[in-house]
Amino acid sequence: MKNQIIILLFFFCLVGCKQETSINKTQKENKGTIAQKAMVVSARKEASEIGVKILKLGGNAFDAMMATEMALAVTYPYAGNLGGGGFLVYRLADGTKGALDYREKAPLAAYKDMYLDEEGNVIKNLSTVGSMAVGVPGTIAGIFEAQRRFGKLDVKTVLQPVIELAQNGFVVTNKQAKRFSEYDSIFSAVNKKQILFNKTIKAGDTIKNLALANTLQRISEHGRDEFYKGETAKMLVSFLEAKGSSITLEDLEKYEAKWRNPVSFEYDDLTITSMSPPSSGGICLGQIMKMIEPFDLNDYGHNSLKTIQVLVEAEKRAYADRSYYLGDPDFVDIPTKTLLSDVYLEGRMANFSFKEPTPSDTLSHGYIVGYESDETTHYSIVDQFGNAIAVTTTLNGAYGSKLYAEELGFFLNNEMDDFSSKPGVPNYYGLIGAEANSIAPEKRMLSAMTPTIVEKEGELYMTLGTPGGSTIITSVLQTIINVHEFGFSMQSAVDAPRFHHQWLPDEIRMEPNSFNIDLIKALEALGYSINLKRSPVIGKVDAILVLDDGTLEGGADHRGDDTAVGF
Ligand code: DON
Repeated sequence: MKNQIIILLFFFCLVGCKQETSINKTQKENKGTIAQKAMVVSARKEASEIGVKILKLGGNAFDAMMATEMALAVTYPYAGNLGGGGFLVYRLADGTKGALDYREKAPLAAYKDMYLDEEGNVIKNLSTVGSMAVGVPGTIAGIFEAQRRFGKLDVKTVLQPVIELAQNGFVVTNKQAKRFSEYDSIFSAVNKKQILFNKTIKAGDTIKNLALANTLQRISEHGRDEFYKGETAKMLVSFLEAKGSSITLEDLEKYEAKWRNPVSFEYDDLTITSMSPPSSGGICLGQIMKMIEPFDLNDYGHNSLKTIQVLVEAEKRAYADRSYYLGDPDFVDIPTKTLLSDVYLEGRMANFSFKEPTPSDTLSHGYIVGYESDETTHYSIVDQFGNAIAVTTTLNGAYGSKLYAEELGFFLNNEMDDFSSKPGVPNYYGLIGAEANSIAPEKRMLSAMTPTIVEKEGELYMTLGTPGGSTIITSVLQTIINVHEFGFSMQSAVDAPRFHHQWLPDEIRMEPNSFNIDLIKALEALGYSINLKRSPVIGKVDAILVLDDGTLEGGADHRGDDTAVGF
């Protein structure tokens, strides 16, 4: 009884008082790298530097995109890729916005129950490891399409420094050496031999990837079709076939990146533009932000009990909708307007209470009558012409399927796991899906990637995004509100501790060793389950903020080797 009274006292104090985390004013305002005109923020210093080099040669954000993305494929094989896919959200200097979808697709031979055994159970690891997990890659199509439409330089100029980087090598960081060693046994098991990245590599070693340099050289000479129809395509298909994948030359030939209308919504005086389906990012972020908008977060305080409650309850509701309604828009009707409408979202939050959580099992997706007709990486670029891009690209898991095409020098994705293999059975990120995200030939699997551009009073304000699987959406959300509601600098907003709820499992995932124990106890006293173990990293945000004087502040997440470079 005594204990209960103490817990209740904690609870009343925390609910009643304005509670901030231990982050003080100086930490909040601690600035990242500042640049006068242009900036690239990515997961690797070399990739940010190459992007800036292309800008200094007179290229724009779309030229820098091609160079940065390929430099990440060289230096950051964990997620940078030729064998994966991604999404671009852009805002041109004149304010025009758009999005490009270069998400992987299911092969023509794919079918709904391909990961189920005879009893209808999901076969372990089939959609996550090895050749069966691989979706048709979209990255080369994506960077070529963006550069073709908006770039200024010729492709050879853009790719040359990347080819040299692959030839001359890059220096392995501490974090990277640790990962190579962690994944060594699975690389050997999947590839049946040791690959270029293995446990003998130490921090400080230089890795040259000559096979990848040759692949990039061929792509630079022959263009996008080299990857989808040329010698590289043939080498890739024969490699995949030998490993048991069903991907054919026809799959590669048919692959196209697609221009999409991004999702845009208002929050206070901000206009937020983010990725539309087949990513759930934009719709989910929009739903959450519109559900939390009526609450006075600024008054409640950063990472206070009340702020966490409001965010968590909105997140639960949005992720429940995600699992039911969202999938590839070329295959399913998505009621986007309704999902983002004030009336619908007010209804979704109608049973919200500060007194207790809404249990996830009582909270299915909302009802809409009749439709209106383990690793990723993000980089943000603002160029000297005023164009801004947010790009998130992925192999899905760390090193994707772990299948490494030795002759070509890159890993293949395991994106097929982002489909719902069976309704109600969680995928690697614990996400539950339904019919809308079931497998079909040529369908794109649902994503959570949330490359996002924020405008304030019509002007460019922020570009951001992150890896983190299901936690991507909530990491982007918290970074935006850290700046907008709580007055953080870009760097501090990115570095601040984060938490996450995704409807199911019904728990708040909180970054370990980052939150006050009293706050955690107060949440538990209210009836929330807290998971401090599951994911040591909740996103790794790379962002750029336009400051009042027009200069740019980079936010490069301290959780990785991320670096902002500008001029
Ligand atoms: O598209 C998606 O949502 C996932 N494939 C992203 C995976 C990811 O972010 C892994 N990073 N930790």
